[in-house]
Amino acid sequence: MFSILMFLFFILLAVYIYMNILFKPKNFPPGPPSWPIWGGYYQILLENFRFPYKAIHEMAKRYNTNVVGTYLGSFATVIACDFESVRDVLLRPEFQGRVDAFVPRFRSDGDLLGIIFTEGDKWLEQRRFMLRNMRDFGFGRRSDVLEQVLEEEIKDLIEIFKNGNKPFSKNGYVKLPESFYAMYANMAVYIFSGDRKPFKEAYEFADNMVKQNKKIDTTTGVINMTPWMRYFAPGPIGYTVTKFATRYAKTFVQNLIDEHKSKITDDTTNDYIDKYMQEMRKQMELQYPTTYTEKQLQVTGMDMLFAGSTTVPFMTSFIIYLLSKHQRVQKKCQEEIEDVVGKSRLPTLNDRPNLPYTEAAIREALRFQTLVPLGVPHKATEDTTLGGYFIPKDTMVLTNLYSVHMDEKIWDNPQEYTPERFIEPNGKLKKRDLSLPFGLGKRVCAGETFARQNIFVVVSSLLQNFNFIEDPSHLFPELNDNIAGLNESPQPFWVKAEPRN
Ligand code: HEM
Repeated sequence: MFSILMFLFFILLAVYIYMNILFKPKNFPPGPPSWPIWGGYYQILLENFRFPYKAIHEMAKRYNTNVVGTYLGSFATVIACDFESVRDVLLRPEFQGRVDAFVPRFRSDGDLLGIIFTEGDKWLEQRRFMLRNMRDFGFGRRSDVLEQVLEEEIKDLIEIFKNGNKPFSKNGYVKLPESFYAMYANMAVYIFSGDRKPFKEAYEFADNMVKQNKKIDTTTGVINMTPWMRYFAPGPIGYTVTKFATRYAKTFVQNLIDEHKSKITDDTTNDYIDKYMQEMRKQMELQYPTTYTEKQLQVTGMDMLFAGSTTVPFMTSFIIYLLSKHQRVQKKCQEEIEDVVGKSRLPTLNDRPNLPYTEAAIREALRFQTLVPLGVPHKATEDTTLGGYFIPKDTMVLTNLYSVHMDEKIWDNPQEYTPERFIEPNGKLKKRDLSLPFGLGKRVCAGETFARQNIFVVVSSLLQNFNFIEDPSHLFPELNDNIAGLNESPQPFWVKAEPRN
């Protein structure tokens, strides 16, 4: 027995030395030792099972470094953990690649398609097309049509909050984030297809995306590090839900595309499918090799609808959570809204410049509760350096946006929710905003304007119409109970929505 144990000990020691001394590139950033199979992931999980990004944040302090380096499975990985190094990763061209991993390929049937997980010329062309064509449809500039649709959705939401007898809106209490699923899913469906779905269908779509989001963790995820585990532990590693949600989203998006095919008539339409189909036809006439294919359109639709159905409902719920916990801030927003907008109409984007405190409350929530704490993994496309360390080509590069948002050199008392930090002494919104909830640079969130505009109109409209209260009979879960997932989500909670008129 003793000799077997000694044998195992020496094998592990040999693997350890190989992975950490011989195998690690020279001048690679310091970080947790890489053990077989999951590399440094064991230590990250040991230190903070729920929130890997918090474990990495603490490790950076312990190793006295701004950049942590390790292996996550077979991926050489570095994690930028302060403002300068995160900015470097987000702005320098050699860090704009994406990692070729299991889930991105699985959703594209073996290829790499869409916007979020592609790189190089294909990504650039498709991302530019999206931003150019959606600019007037909420992705850059304002859109009258979109604002009208949003107003209709908000009116429905207010009605449900007031008189709701839905499973998540009862007797003056509303359940979040579920109450926001259908509305936000429909906003994303609308910009993609120019259509909206009945409540039940939109809710069900978002619910399925959320289920997948919760099961896949924020780093590469066990499913990406060790996809072979799907053969004997498909449930625990998130494969079962990924398979279901991917098939579901594919069919949902393909139906939207098919419904459209018969409708395209001219160049005056606005939604993404129309614009894309027009471009596909143009490219077909040119007969050059093209990146514009129906499959590419389908996966881009999955990207947009996944992001739209998870991020914004979660963030709006976090804002309501924080405002319920900070009644002083809530009252101040409501007074501002009452002064500027009154009660006879809903707030619109025209009011946004005149509601700096409400805007600051939202910005501070985006900082305080980092929604995508490690961003979407980038990749070094050539040998380079970061923070004085060597980063070999193909290294996965993560941005710890949480570390940026909790950096005491940038923010006073970062652990406190204080909208005033975004306000000048004269009451105006500060011009300089060092928070990075949407990233930065060429890969900055493509939906940032859309998300910020929607969140602003929804939150200000809800505050105009309701007081949100944490009722002793329905105490909120702690933020420490959040579900890290791909995008961090709150545990479902019931908030009292007291009508204000
Ligand atoms: C509060 C809401 C949101 C937050 C905090 C957020 C945050 C982010 C972050 C951090 C990234 C990664 C940036 C990087 O790679 O460095 C990202 C990427 C992306 N987001 Fe968002 N997002 C939000 C909402 C949305 C919405 C509503 C959409 C679309 C409808 C969207 C579409 C995208 C796309 C397509 C990318 C990939 C960009 C690229 O790789 O070029 N996001 N987002």
